[in-house]
This record gives sequence, C-alpha cells and structure tokens, in this order.
Amino acid sequence: MNSRARQRKNLYPFVVLICAIVYLIVKYSSKAILIETYNIIPSARSNTSLEINIVIVLTKGSDTNEYATALNTLECYSALHGYRLIIEHDDRFPECSIHMDKFFRRHCHTHKMMTEELPEDSWIFFIDADNGIANPQRLIDDLIEPDYDIYLYNRFFNWEMAAQYLIKNNERGRDWLRQWSEYEFKTPASTHGSDNGALHVLMMNYLAPEKLHSSGLAKECLSIWDRSGHIGHLFNMESCVRMVIGERTYFPAQRVKIFPKTISFARDLWQLYSHWSTDDFILHAVKERYFKPSSLDYLARRFENLRSALEDPSNDVLLPSPLNDISSCDSVFPLLNKLNIDKCRNGTETWIMDTRFKISEKLHRQMLEEMSDRILKEQVRNIYICAELI
Ligand SMILES: *[C@@H]1O[C@H](CO)[C@@H](O)[C@H](O)[C@H]1NC(C)=O
Ligand SMILES: *[C@@H]1O[C@H](CO)[C@@H](O)[C@H](O)[C@H]1NC(C)=O
Repeated sequence: MNSRARQRKNLYPFVVLICAIVYLIVKYSSKAILIETYNIIPSARSNTSLEINIVIVLTKGSDTNEYATALNTLECYSALHGYRLIIEHDDRFPECSIHMDKFFRRHCHTHKMMTEELPEDSWIFFIDADNGIANPQRLIDDLIEPDYDIYLYNRFFNWEMAAQYLIKNNERGRDWLRQWSEYEFKTPASTHGSDNGALHVLMMNYLAPEKLHSSGLAKECLSIWDRSGHIGHLFNMESCVRMVIGERTYFPAQRVKIFPKTISFARDLWQLYSHWSTDDFILHAVKERYFKPSSLDYLARRFENLRSALEDPSNDVLLPSPLNDISSCDSVFPLLNKLNIDKCRNGTETWIMDTRFKISEKLHRQMLEEMSDRILKEQVRNIYICAELI
C-alpha cells in the first residue's frame, strides 16, 4: 500500500463521523426541534369484561406493508387494551372459495370464524387494514349499548353506510353476516357496488321488510340497483334506501344502531385534509402510498379554504370526496413514532402526535356538522333524482 492510499484510508473514520453528525442534525432538527408534539401515554381499559376481537381479512397475497402505520397503531391499541387482533388472508376456509368477489368472501370468512372459532357473545369489530387509531384512549367497549347487537356507521362524503361493523357473536350477528355474504349471489348484472351496494339492499330488507310489499319506493330502490350503470346510479339507490328505512340511528326491533356521520367511530383521513382532533377515534384510508409529507403546505391551504368556505352557509362548497378530489390519495397521518408493542402491552408506550394539523375539538365538530348538513341536502336532492327515474 503506498502512502497516498494509506492517508486516504485514515480519512475514512472522519468522513463517517461527519456524515453521522450531519445525519443527526438533519434528523433531529426536523423532528424534535421544528415539530411540536402532543404526547399521549394511554392507559389500559379498566373493565375487561367484554371480549372484543378486531378482525381484518386481507385478500390472499396482499401485502401488509402497504398498511404498516395503520397496523402498527392497531397492534399497539389491541395490546394495550387486551383486544384480540386477528389479521388473516381470505383463503383459509374452503367453503368461502365459492365467493368470486373478494369483498363478499371476507364476510364469509368472518362468519366462519364466528361460527367455528370465536367465543359465543364475544364482539367482532370488522375493519379494513387501512384504519389507524388516532386516539388510543377511546374504547370499542364504549360503542356498545345493552340492547344492540349490530353497529354500522354512515360514511362522510355521501350517504352510504360503511362496510365496517361491530357485531356480537350470537345468532343474530351471525345470521345477519351470513345474509350479507350471500348477497353475492343475488347481485344484479349492473354496477351493483359489491358488498357496499349490497349492504344497503340488505339493510332495507332487514330493517323494513314490510315495505317491500307495501311500498312502491322500496321496489323502485331495487329497480334502480338492477339498472345501475355507474356509481351515480348506485348513490341514487342508496339515497332511495335511506328514504325507505328512515334517517334514524336506533332500530330497536332489529337491535341495530347506525351511527350518524359526526359521531361515527371512523372517518376518512382525507375528509379534513389530514387534520385531526382529540375527538377523532379511528382514521380510515391510512395507506403508506398515500403519505406525501411534501404536500403539507398544499393540504394546509386546502383545509384553510374549506374552513372559510364552510363559514358561509350560502356558499356552495365542493366538499372533499374521492370522486371529485385527488386529495383522498394525498395525506399525512398524525403519529410520528413507530410504536413498540411490548411497551404498548405494559402501558408505557408514548404516542407522539404531530400537532401541525391538530385542530380544536370545537372546530372539528363545527366543520363536520356543517359538512354533514350539506351532504344531507345533497342526499335529499338525490331523492328527487330517484323520483324522476320513477
Ligand atoms: C364491566 O363491564 C360490564 C359490561 O359492560 C358491566 O356489566 C360491569 O358492571 C362492569 N364492571 C364494573 C366493575 O364496572
Ligand atoms: C415495559 O416493557 C418494556 C419493553 O419490554 C420494558 O423495557 C419496560 O421495562 C417495561 N416496563 C414496565 C413498567 O413493566
């Protein structure tokens, strides 16, 4: 080795050291110094008498890395509160292979688990993999009311019920879920909206069976479904169904509760351009490929425009929706750290939340209520469109 080469070799440790220093400066100046954080050390639920299973059924071959952040929060949340988190691919039950549509197959899968594996009277909280816990102090237990076995919620951007639910593992819960999965074989040859479209027709039958004989409208809802050629028709069918079953929250005879938009257990992350408050529980549409931290300024601007537009009730605002706005694929999730599941389990993990998009509970409530009112008006206009179809 000549002396020049040796000298160069002696420089290596210095180069490495300088790189490390630069890295640390960049890392901590952006994380610790510039971002103000809101820290939560949630404590475990005190009453564990309810047995709760959080169930996620993935299509065979799908990659959980796509949901790494969301699943990390669910794992931590479950470990902390003693919920059983079950994440499975949908090819375990041969009986469910009769389902060609993956959306219905997952309900068949869950129904099999309920029938064969999960304890009687335990609860099934069925959600998609892209749900992140935004507030680990909120409990699934608190959604449950003594006389109700089936819980659904209204999505925000339109009037559809989400295909995520909380049900009790009893006769009623299992029967309801079996009926839903079997709708695959009753869907018309139209743009039927898969399990989500079918959920509405199921609920019309389930909550208002008498109407199918007595009401021309109920028949018309089915006819719209049969003739549906695009997603707009699907929304017509859904508003039609909502008119038949009524804008109610509680259906005591069937032990069903449908949470209104503003107090539902989950909402889409993009609904407020990634802004959140301590009033949120679960944020939906949390996918790694949607995370674009570079768009912080853009999201902040869009949010500000929305906020000020909503202040004027006469203003006709185009509300965020996956149908009219690319922002639904552009988001940031508020959690900054990767949660350590062992620490979650013994209640010592800190959830470090990014405050840059944190808004007050008051503003959060005001905006959601204002948006919810506007969407209800749109829903009513949509009923007129149905009426014209009739
Ligand atoms: C725990 O929760 C169950 C079910 O909600 C309830 O019946 C019971 O009274 C609670 N126990 C305590 C000690 O609060
Ligand atoms: C909690 O778990 C973490 C990780 O296993 C461990 O380092 C810590 O000592 C535990 N704390 C308590 C209070 O048990």
